[in-house]
Amino acid sequence: MIIAIDGPAAAGKGTLARHLAVELRLAYLDTGLLYRAVGKKVLSLGVDLEDIARAESISKALKPADLEIDGLRADDVAQAASKVSAIPGVRAALLEFQRSFAKSPLKGKKGSILDGRDIGTVVCPDAPVKLFVTASTEVRAQRRFKELQDRGSTVIYARVLEDMNERDARDSSRSVAPLEQAEDAVKIDTSVMDAEAVFETAMGIILAAAPEVNVF
Ligand code: DC
Repeated sequence: MIIAIDGPAAAGKGTLARHLAVELRLAYLDTGLLYRAVGKKVLSLGVDLEDIARAESISKALKPADLEIDGLRADDVAQAASKVSAIPGVRAALLEFQRSFAKSPLKGKKGSILDGRDIGTVVCPDAPVKLFVTASTEVRAQRRFKELQDRGSTVIYARVLEDMNERDARDSSRSVAPLEQAEDAVKIDTSVMDAEAVFETAMGIILAAAPEVNVF
């Protein structure tokens, strides 16, 4: 069983994927973390974000432990991740790891769930369940603003909104594996839903598409 979840930043993909992973005993991979780890390394090493060759070699050398680096959730890292993720060689280097995670879930798990931007379109095009989780830009920016405030950052809402618009535009317009809804994905607009309602909606879609997922 593979569940693919895609959508723009702060739409609620991660919260939903984590909850589904526990409920359905699936191994969870937040694929944004891979790009964030590459972006973070590029920033920490003082490498120019336009330096394609260095970004590619950093992505080829990425290890699972790099996903535990501190500060991956910061907004400057998100922007760096978005920039390096537009480099075809970086995407190619990270693709195999994502596919093998999807196909060989950890022991004791019934399958896998991956969230990102191109899971249903490129990484796992044959996934039996695909969700496209989205929300209005304002709602997503508000959520990110609150999340950053809760973490103690001094942030300005207008700046968060601007950064989010910039990142979504870049992620949606790049030439390789842009953010887009797969033809066979079911869209969930979370703008006026809380996390529980999103979970219940997703469970309904999953059980209709793949009833076997609930058989333990
Ligand atoms: O999901 P996130 O916000 O942590 O992702 C950070 C960036 O990584 C995002 O702006 C674009 C990139 N990304 C991607 O290109 N493909 C994915 N499957 C996941 C993330």
